[in-house]
Amino acid sequence: MKPLHGEIRVPGDKSIAHRACLVAALAEGDSHIIGFSGGGDNHSTLRVLRGLGVHIEVDAARGVRIQGRGLRGLSAPVDALDCGNSGTTMRLMMGLLAGQRGAFELVGDVSLSARPMERVAAPLRRLGARIEMPAGDHPPVRVVGAPLMGSRVETLVASAQVKSACLLAGLLASGETTVFEATPTRDHTERMLRHVGVTLHESSVGLRLLPPERLEAGEFVVPGDVSSAAFFAGAAALVPGSEVVVRGVGLNPRRVGFLHALREMGAYVEWTLAPGLAAHDEPVGDLVVRGPAALRGVDISPERVADMVDELPLFACLAAVADGPSVVVGAEELRVKETDRIRATGSLLRALGATVEDTRDGWRFAGNARLTGGAVRVEGDHRLAMCAAVLGRTVTRGPVEIDAPSIASVSFPGFFETLERLG
Ligand code: S3P
Repeated sequence: MKPLHGEIRVPGDKSIAHRACLVAALAEGDSHIIGFSGGGDNHSTLRVLRGLGVHIEVDAARGVRIQGRGLRGLSAPVDALDCGNSGTTMRLMMGLLAGQRGAFELVGDVSLSARPMERVAAPLRRLGARIEMPAGDHPPVRVVGAPLMGSRVETLVASAQVKSACLLAGLLASGETTVFEATPTRDHTERMLRHVGVTLHESSVGLRLLPPERLEAGEFVVPGDVSSAAFFAGAAALVPGSEVVVRGVGLNPRRVGFLHALREMGAYVEWTLAPGLAAHDEPVGDLVVRGPAALRGVDISPERVADMVDELPLFACLAAVADGPSVVVGAEELRVKETDRIRATGSLLRALGATVEDTRDGWRFAGNARLTGGAVRVEGDHRLAMCAAVLGRTVTRGPVEIDAPSIASVSFPGFFETLERLG
């Protein structure tokens, strides 16, 4: 295959942009978000905030302006709030709305309507939240604003979304809220809250949040999304002689697990941090990846999962074709993402001729697969669509036909154009 060559930028980080929008909506005064991705999930957050009475202006060139309504200023809408395909929107909203005045109903698309929400509702109820889910552990979610009392809560699954929902609820609680997570997850909420003036202490008992008087409005600069950059890093690693440079990408230590794995597989992977940090204290820099003569299989153990959770389907694609076997264990969370990503990734790879066994909590790969092309189903999952495209561009013998390529824009508008630009 032809090597990939070039310098690119990727759209703004989806996780950070969600948080910037939520925090800006609760701040006093106007905020400006630069580097907003424009992806479907981030637009779901804006749609929900507009439904709550927040005035928002989106300008493709200049970014997003949000008029903050203050900590308790959201208004209860008559209609349900549609979170679309975005689990982060729904889960973070549950925490944000728990202490507001009024009743709120959160709904989502077919995929989101099947995803577990009790993991968020349970710790929030410990803070006094009133949350009802008539369908069981799934949306729709009804939040009836209630007075919240700070307390200590533990997250039962390794999930930044659950942790973040509790921290956002803690903003409106009386007294201190402590959140303990057994496995560390991405800390964008913590960084963002500190940036807008919230006091957060970290200790062995957990993260202690002191309820603030107010949040400071301001400028939020969203770095490039490392989860989007990962597709090009993976593609470069799959074709010997490739070199891809990604400029201005977020390099939060809790998000670079896939890059470490890629290095272990034998690819050249280096990044340099830009001096200073983006405005909300996230590390940002440039990433360089070169394709080695061959990739070797590596094993992923449970403690590595959280730091590469969104990149595991992509890792699976590389492991399928690498020299020698690989195993992923401890990744049962993938079963409750946009789709069951263990099953869906396994099926996609088998459809292209790989020898992959799905396990309860991951996969076993024989490695050394010579993939055919063919028609694949991505089950409405944006990351699977991009995985299939990467395989088609780099290693399959024939073309890969993707049933729903446009779904990539949930997190990465412009993905296919960027892939083409790399040759
Ligand atoms: C996210 C956290 C992760 C990740 C998701 C975004 C976030 O989910 O998979 O794409 O922005 O907090 P979990 O924390 O539930 O694993």
